[in-house]
Amino acid sequence: MSTEELTRTPWFTAGLRGLGGAGPVLLISRDEVARCLALLDPVAIVREALVDHHAGRTVLPAEAYLRWDNDQGAYTRSIAMPGGVVRDGGPAAYGMKIINASVSNPAAGLERAGGVGLCFDPQTARISAIIEIGLISSVRTAAVSLVGVQAAGHADATCLAVLGCGTQGGTHLFLLADRLPGLRRVALHDAEPAAAAALAERVRRHRPGIEVAVLPDARSALRDAELVVTATTADDGYLPPDWIRPGAAVVNVSLADLTAEALLQAGRLYVDDVELVEQNPRRPLGRLMQQGLVTAPGSTGGGRPIDATIGALAAGAVTAAPPAPTSYTVINPFGMGVLDVALLDAIRRAATGLGLGTEVAL
Ligand SMILES: NC(=O)c1ccc[n+]([C@@H]2O[C@H](COP(=O)([O-])OP(=O)(O)OC[C@H]3O[C@@H](n4cnc5c(N)ncnc54)[C@H](O)[C@@H]3O)[C@@H](O)[C@H]2O)c1
Repeated sequence: MSTEELTRTPWFTAGLRGLGGAGPVLLISRDEVARCLALLDPVAIVREALVDHHAGRTVLPAEAYLRWDNDQGAYTRSIAMPGGVVRDGGPAAYGMKIINASVSNPAAGLERAGGVGLCFDPQTARISAIIEIGLISSVRTAAVSLVGVQAAGHADATCLAVLGCGTQGGTHLFLLADRLPGLRRVALHDAEPAAAAALAERVRRHRPGIEVAVLPDARSALRDAELVVTATTADDGYLPPDWIRPGAAVVNVSLADLTAEALLQAGRLYVDDVELVEQNPRRPLGRLMQQGLVTAPGSTGGGRPIDATIGALAAGAVTAAPPAPTSYTVINPFGMGVLDVALLDAIRRAATGLGLGTEVAL
């Protein structure tokens, strides 16, 4: 570049070496994600990543959490969840999920949560793909729940209660209905009766062999349930121990519905990642850990130790004690970015193989 050219060039481009920006990035839409997922087994991918996590073949930094109230005063937030899956002899997968949400979105006709997943090139660290994450997020969360239910010895449940009939409630219901062969009845409850009625209608249409009922309150929905999925946006615990049927399992997806007593009195308590839970005192189980009332697996220093992680159960490193007939099991999946990263990588590969996605040069 001549001196004359340089003086005509703005400072912000003159300083660059001219090697080409962020490079090619593959954009993958929700429809394309769905086409890829149909060819994959997302439950198997999630189970394998849970086992990898147990075996130390993952990198799981703390997540970043940004919250604010929007103009309607609604709880609004962004969570960035990086992770890596580093398998011996296999290709490594690195990436990040960015999932943003506002509780006022459904009233505006939007899904509450949405965002993107990023795949990182293992060699250059460049972003190689940007992928719609809402569908992946609900599939991975339901897959963790299924693996947890199976590994904890509750796969023979015949009656399921779903509290909160939005995205997660719906995805959980249909995955559990497909993979738990004994499931015959479903009880639904939602603070918005129309949401429960709409999900019931989808069950009748798509799974006519399953008996479905809509209940006006959570307690009656739980009465016969051997398996409970909480998928509400409740801020405070309201579900006490005596609402839970003895021998049942509660998958505490929305993390805040169970009271502290219900968490402390669980006969079996399983989590996905002990540190993630402990690092987040905004969630009840994290608060109990920070107060020393719940402690890490194997801990003998007082408090109620967590029995195991879902990954340890899925790996066969810990055998779940049979469900306690007079008590109940709580599975508390905080949500691990490494599971999204494993799915993102599988979807990026599938999309590339199928010629799906739109490549852009940023
Ligand atoms: N643990 C995880 O890995 C994980 C992952 C994703 C989402 N989540 C959580 O799952 C929850 C559900 O997410 P979503 O995307 O399905 O939300 P959503 O907004 O689509 O659905 C939530 C539903 O719960 C209902 N609801 C709210 N409060 C209620 C209450 N007290 N009783 C009964 N129903 C109530 C709402 O009317 C709505 O229909 C959220 O709390 C979210 O943070 C957890």
